[in-house]
Amino acid sequence: MNSAPNAPSSLKTAPPTGISGIPEMLLSFSLKARNSFGFEVLAEHAYSITHADQISPVIQSIEATGLPWRVLGGGSNVILPPLLPGTTLLMDIAGQAITQQDASGAVVSVGAGVNWHDFVIWTLDQSLPGLENLALIPGTVGAAPIQNIGAYGVEVGEYIQSIEAYDCHSKTMVNYPASECAFTYRNSIFKANPNRYIITHVHFYLPAVWTPRLHYVDLATLFTSDHVPTAEEVMVAVCKIRNRKLPDPKLIGNAGSFFQNPIVEQSQYLHLLDQFPELVSYPEGDAHEGKRKLAAGWMIDRCGFKGMRAGAVGVYQNQALVLVNHGGGTADSVLALAKTIQDKVQETFGVALAIEPIRY
Ligand code: EPU
Repeated sequence: MNSAPNAPSSLKTAPPTGISGIPEMLLSFSLKARNSFGFEVLAEHAYSITHADQISPVIQSIEATGLPWRVLGGGSNVILPPLLPGTTLLMDIAGQAITQQDASGAVVSVGAGVNWHDFVIWTLDQSLPGLENLALIPGTVGAAPIQNIGAYGVEVGEYIQSIEAYDCHSKTMVNYPASECAFTYRNSIFKANPNRYIITHVHFYLPAVWTPRLHYVDLATLFTSDHVPTAEEVMVAVCKIRNRKLPDPKLIGNAGSFFQNPIVEQSQYLHLLDQFPELVSYPEGDAHEGKRKLAAGWMIDRCGFKGMRAGAVGVYQNQALVLVNHGGGTADSVLALAKTIQDKVQETFGVALAIEPIRY
């Protein structure tokens, strides 16, 4: 659960700043428990943000210094260096509630610091299905829209009604409907404009009419056609698949998929298919455009990297798209391994792999 502030074990605290609304500043704050790679990382300065109204004064004081800053949620999609300079805002805004409900559906409003999986389970406990395919994705609710998390045929953007955020340009709170968030595969306006928006709350719309979404092959094969599963059953199945394929960051450091699945034009796809008839891919976007999303995990596997080790880091043995920290790894060591993989995939398939987690 990431909604509580980080345990202040080894922290030293600075004297109070005296500016109203600014929480206590944490100095040399360890982020080892707050980055899912488990790298040894110290934040030069950090603030635990528990209320949206703390953001404006904090940003003002940071901007007055001119030093770099960033927001950290659960730290499950980041690559952090040993010393994170400037200021790190730890997003710890808690709380979740059904804020509107009628016969057609419910609006659920959630603090950005709430743990994503705990939130999915909570919606199911409230008899509000819809998010079950996204169970067990690590990280926080506020981070989910930034990269438009997706799994097993569902993307979070489909269930978002609107997003409340502090806009560092206009210096005001904004509330964007999903239609203005530019959600696409692993992308959004929030990712495209780093350090502009600080998401404080996400409002979801969960329609009352629900059918299980089982078109993803791994999921479909777990159910027989004569039984329509409940949302809870789908959630349990998703957890089972994820536990089989993806390492638990509590046991082995990782940031989920390390690369995005590359999207190529149909001509390139057909050319590749000629050379590699077993190539795994999916249609992408409008059918008439003919674009294909290629399974990067398959390509990396095919290049022979699955399960390989390079010192403290390596490629996960059950899913080649996931790079892992066996203990003692660093941002530099994982990025060096990533470069080796990118070069080999480029040489073999002529395809560039983009790194998925955000690098600081
Ligand atoms: N494959 C291999 N070898 C591997 C890995 C994959 O042959 O080592 C093949 C699989 O057999 C399958 C295909 O590649 O046919 C795709 O693999 P998988 O179903 O595991 O999904 P993925 O495309 O690798 C994406 C998301 C995951 C998400 C799954 C399920 C991205 C970058 N990753 O992975 O998201 O859980 O689909 O929907 O889109 C994440 O973003 O952190 C993440 C885990």
